[in-house]
Amino acid sequence: MTRALPYTGPWLLAPMEGVTAPSFRDLVLARNAAHTLGGACTEFVRVIDTPVPVKVMRRHLGTRRFAQPVALQLMGADLEALAASAQHAAQAGAPVIDLNFGCPAKGALRGCAGSAALKDPRQLERTVAAVVKAVPGHPVTGKIRAGFDDASRVEDLARAIEAGGAWMLTIHCRTRAEAYCDEVDWTRIARAVQAVSIPVCGNGGVNTHADLERLRRETGCRYAMIGRAALGDPWIFTGAQVAAQDAARFLLDYAEALFATGEPSKKGVAGRLKQLLVHWTAGGLCTPTREAWLHTPTPDELFERLSAIAGTERCAHRNPLLT
Ligand SMILES: Cc1cc2nc3c(=O)[nH]c(=O)nc-3n(C[C@H](O)[C@H](O)[C@H](O)COP(=O)(O)O)c2cc1C
Repeated sequence: MTRALPYTGPWLLAPMEGVTAPSFRDLVLARNAAHTLGGACTEFVRVIDTPVPVKVMRRHLGTRRFAQPVALQLMGADLEALAASAQHAAQAGAPVIDLNFGCPAKGALRGCAGSAALKDPRQLERTVAAVVKAVPGHPVTGKIRAGFDDASRVEDLARAIEAGGAWMLTIHCRTRAEAYCDEVDWTRIARAVQAVSIPVCGNGGVNTHADLERLRRETGCRYAMIGRAALGDPWIFTGAQVAAQDAARFLLDYAEALFATGEPSKKGVAGRLKQLLVHWTAGGLCTPTREAWLHTPTPDELFERLSAIAGTERCAHRNPLLT
């Protein structure tokens, strides 16, 4: 029997550390209809050897609520601490608890967390089962890569997630060794879909709105998740073609959201905007001037350029920190 996940549409915003905090996520959720963008996810919350407090979970979930649910993602290898953290996540109101088995960072691997679990499907299953048992009846999902060094065991990994009791499997089709390579092989997603009966969310290399439906058609996955392409086009889930003015306004809104969350340095905020501008495709803003945006010498010049395009008052007028 398939258990009903709370997602309101087939496309999901991927968890991205350092980006998908409420400051960015809420702006994306507000711009995409719930029947297209069906949900989002927090960046991973690292669980070491003690349960992560409820108040930390609340901070990751943010205060604004949308029709679309925001899953809370946990990453850890200590099963007791992970299980207790999952209970805290549920108490904090997380509608879905997602488990990270894909992070390739050395820190995660040293702690046997993230993609380290891909070396041992039995460990993967035990981890999912420990969390499922801790929050009975609560949706728990697992996000894997297609493998650690190669994709030969993708079916075993997918089955381990299902056997642990997860409600959905998300599969990023690159292996840990492939990191974020340009080439992707979606047949690995199709293999995972064939191997399990729980819903599968395909991820990796979805670069355009049209790719979303193509991924579903070619692999049979029920959901499709976008990471970096959504950093460059926050409207990608609906496929809306926005004007340069809307694109600039999004970036200014993001700057203001960052200041509102206490990021005090203009340089820090400008750096976060440039992190998006590296990927930016919406509104033709960066065609053909990406380098010029990325090399804008001062934060004030960046904000002023954006304000001129957005046709708004300078960001400074709406945020005292920018004066
Ligand atoms: C900056 C950045 C941070 C990421 N952080 C996370 C994370 O916290 N949890 C996670 O499961 N995946 C994380 N990922 C992986 C993405 O969720 C996604 O699987 C990956 O980017 C592939 O999708 P894409 O080709 O659409 O970008 C991160 C990716 C990037 C680029």
